[in-house]
Amino acid sequence: MWNPQDFEQRYSPKTVSDIVFAEDRSRSLIDQLISGQRPFPMAEDKCGILLYGIPGTGKSALAKLLPDAMEMARSGNETGIDCVYQRVRPGNNGMTMLEKIGNHAIHTPYQASQHYYVLDEVDNLNAQAMDVLKSVMNTRGCVFILTTNHLDKVELGVRSRCHCIAFNAAPAEKWLPLARRIMADAGLHGISDQQLVAVIQTGKGSARDIKDALIDVVLEALAVQP
Ligand SMILES: Nc1ncnc2c1ncn2[C@@H]1O[C@H](COP(=O)(O)OP(=O)(O)O)[C@@H](O)[C@H]1O
Ligand SMILES: [Mg+2]
Repeated sequence: MWNPQDFEQRYSPKTVSDIVFAEDRSRSLIDQLISGQRPFPMAEDKCGILLYGIPGTGKSALAKLLPDAMEMARSGNETGIDCVYQRVRPGNNGMTMLEKIGNHAIHTPYQASQHYYVLDEVDNLNAQAMDVLKSVMNTRGCVFILTTNHLDKVELGVRSRCHCIAFNAAPAEKWLPLARRIMADAGLHGISDQQLVAVIQTGKGSARDIKDALIDVVLEALAVQP
């Protein structure tokens, strides 16, 4: 059933497996980091995941899903209060936030196996806070999940402590399962994969634009239905 009101909830990714990856090796790396198959986190070494690339490719969506996925694989529980999410932006980009994280990180986690810090749009940190982040990343038992649209604005030391994963436009075919689901839910069965691929391509890799282009298709088809 086509229901515009539940579109966002229905088609947004609920688990890491719902995320469309541009490259299969990025998905494998993420899977290894989640499962613990790849040693992670390592203090003073790789303890972060930095998702970077063009807007609308799922960096923030994945960053929010990763802590619980990792903790589930490690302890079978969700992260609860041991996951701290910060959207870095003017007014929330400086030393106050970083000192808080630094003081928090040295204490034993409350219930999870380690601390999780998600800093969304981390390039917005001011220079001093970016420097402190680098040193806070040396604290044992902490995972840092960072996102940015501007990799060059993330300090080199921070980058070197992270697995840096590029989020670029995924090939249009990778969005077909979602596009098919949307069409089927709207009761539209006569649209070929080739037509859908052409629609998906207009979004140029941004999920926001891809989904909007698919909504256009549904609305145009529903408008001409008897
Ligand atoms: N790769 C993806 N796979 C599945 N859904 C996606 C993907 N990228 C974006 N989305 C959807 O689009 C929304 C906006 O993406 P977002 O994660 O905010 O992008 P970014 O942080 O890269 O700008 C997400 O909440 C999600 O519903
Ligand atoms: Mg984002």
